[in-house]
Amino acid sequence: MYLRTLSLAVLAGWAIHPVAGHVPHQLRSEEATCKKTTVAILGGGMAGISAAQALTNASVHDFVILEYRDTIGGRAWHVPFGKDKNGEPYTVEMGANWVQGLGNPGGPQNPIWVLAQKYGLKTTYSNYDNISTYDEHGYSDYSNLLDDFDAASDIANKKAGTVLAQNLQDSNAQTGLAMAGWNPKKNEMKAQAVDWWKWDFESNYTPFESSLVFGFASDNLTSNVFSDHDNFVTDQRGLNTIIKGMASTFLKENDPRLHLNTKITNITYSNDGVTIHNRDGSCVSAAYAITTFSLGVLQNDVVTFSPELPEWKKTAIHKFKLGTYTKIFLQFNETFWPTDTQYFLYADPTTRGWYPVFQSLSMPGFHPGSNIIFVTLTNELAYRAENQPDEKTKAEIMEVLRKMWPDKDIPEPTDFMYPRWSTEPWSYGSYSNWPPGTTLEMHENLRANTERLWFAGEATSPTYFGFLHGAWFEGRDAGRQIAALLQGRCTKYPATHQKLCHPRKRYETLHGTSPLADYSAVNGWTANSFYDSNTD
Ligand SMILES: Cc1cc2nc3c(=O)[nH]c(=O)nc-3n(C[C@H](O)[C@H](O)[C@H](O)COP(=O)(O)OP(=O)(O)OC[C@H]3O[C@@H](n4cnc5c(N)ncnc54)[C@H](O)[C@@H]3O)c2cc1C
Ligand SMILES: *[C@@H]1O[C@H](CO)[C@@H](O)[C@H](O)[C@H]1NC(C)=O
Ligand SMILES: *[C@@H]1O[C@H](CO)[C@@H](O)[C@H](O)[C@H]1NC(C)=O
Ligand SMILES: *[C@@H]1O[C@H](CO)[C@@H](O)[C@H](O)[C@H]1NC(C)=O
Ligand SMILES: *[C@@H]1O[C@H](CO)[C@@H](O)[C@H](O)[C@H]1NC(C)=O
Ligand SMILES: *[C@@H]1O[C@H](CO)[C@@H](O)[C@H](O)[C@H]1NC(C)=O
Repeated sequence: MYLRTLSLAVLAGWAIHPVAGHVPHQLRSEEATCKKTTVAILGGGMAGISAAQALTNASVHDFVILEYRDTIGGRAWHVPFGKDKNGEPYTVEMGANWVQGLGNPGGPQNPIWVLAQKYGLKTTYSNYDNISTYDEHGYSDYSNLLDDFDAASDIANKKAGTVLAQNLQDSNAQTGLAMAGWNPKKNEMKAQAVDWWKWDFESNYTPFESSLVFGFASDNLTSNVFSDHDNFVTDQRGLNTIIKGMASTFLKENDPRLHLNTKITNITYSNDGVTIHNRDGSCVSAAYAITTFSLGVLQNDVVTFSPELPEWKKTAIHKFKLGTYTKIFLQFNETFWPTDTQYFLYADPTTRGWYPVFQSLSMPGFHPGSNIIFVTLTNELAYRAENQPDEKTKAEIMEVLRKMWPDKDIPEPTDFMYPRWSTEPWSYGSYSNWPPGTTLEMHENLRANTERLWFAGEATSPTYFGFLHGAWFEGRDAGRQIAALLQGRCTKYPATHQKLCHPRKRYETLHGTSPLADYSAVNGWTANSFYDSNTD
């Protein structure tokens, strides 16, 4: 029954009237030769595969998945690294590594945790309290500062919740923390190290660069809805085993609907359909398309949209930020660091965020005896490292390690490797963050469709941005909504009675909070007339 409605909708909606308006002539003539499909899913990461599964669940089987790389998984990306005793490489995750917020017994379960269990993903409890503190002279116990941060963070979190609930103006997370008593000076380097560990390590921006409301809300929602339990993935098949597992429920081997090594360069969209052109000259013409490109891909103009994306959409794309989170892996011929502790925090005497957190994999539950440790950089220092040769980065890290363990004779690493997320052409960064002064309206513009082109991915999730589960929910919702549109169903979200078979809400104009009249001399504003003359 749905299928019949679907084919009618397809015939009426787009096959007879192919993409209209705005289309350059050379594209229009090629259209006849484009592969036809009902839904084109652009990107085969968590969001794309989840969208395809949601379409399948709603009996929409006519879709294609177009993926840049030679594999699905996207930012769930692993590579071989180092060697074990038998000379076999270990598998390490360049991207997503934790299942964050598993779920409490009887409560809602994180869909990523459900998948992890279904596909037997090997994981270990990540104990963020199991951390030792260091400075440039070696071990130095400043763990009291960790508690100080947590106390302030609890207060700021409640404040952020109030700002959200009462629709007050957003600020940055640093303001919230400072008002709650956490306000380290620039030269208090131990406190700065703690600040980095407690904030940047998760959101990959500083508290100053993060929204008060949504910076606190994101972690809060994950831990309140699911749980505050995070597991670290050690599975030698790689984390994307769960994405491949999902795909195997609807894709058969060599399924013609999956197009790997397909680099999308141009997207033409209208109210009748979407045509996608790829670098190899192939093209796909679809009734609907869902892009799951990372915010970085959208920000770097890798793909040309025709017509140009509207201003409200472009503004949203540039407002939200894609951070860079760089894990740098080292293998040694011995484990010279303590084998009973998961995390080592280093306070550099001059630079906040300078090789700040080392994580041991050479311990029970991880890869015991592997002699592998890795260190994480974010943003400015991540860009710096990603732009310099391995040898320079390695030398900087060795200097830090020799400061942290001054009594040890530390050998050179036997293997060394790190990704370049900030320049990876299919990602241009790691995961998104909400800057200060954000409104939900701005984010709805990121999430809204432009005619038949829909947007999904971790960055479009207001509740779980930055996480694998954010990508899962966003892919599912876009898939469900498009299926409802195709089938003329108006499924309602039970809680809000919002209709699924509607385009998404968007705001062509975002208003400020102060009326023009307040830009007055009495408020110290002396250039009023200029603005007056610009309004009508
Ligand atoms: C370093 C790092 C650490 C992370 N840590 C965690 C973590 O511990 N826990 C967690 O939950 N999340 C983590 N994340 C976030 C998580 O990886 C993402 O939220 C999630 O994988 C995003 O899925 P997605 O489908 O939205 O996007 P993607 O995985 O980026 O999928 C988009 C797909 O589109 C493809 N594509 C891009 N451009 C084109 C083009 N021009 N043509 C065709 N295809 C294209 C890409 O190749 C990609 O496969 C981390 C991410 C990174 C990078
Ligand atoms: C599709 O349906 C299956 C079976 O009910 C379910 O496990 C899965 O989570 C659904 N997928 C999505 C993306 O909704
Ligand atoms: C980490 O946990 C192990 C095992 O419980 C314990 O022996 C060790 O002292 C802990 N380290 C820190 C810094 O808490
Ligand atoms: C975080 O959750 C708590 C409830 O546990 C709530 O009081 C607070 O307002 C929430 N904060 C945000 C920013 O949503
Ligand atoms: C397609 O996109 C490329 C860049 O990705 C651009 O140079 C080219 O002009 C575009 N072609 C059309 C027909 O829009
Ligand atoms: C590791 O290598 C260093 C020199 O490269 C050497 O002195 C040390 O004995 C080696 N350790 C082990 C456990 O082999």
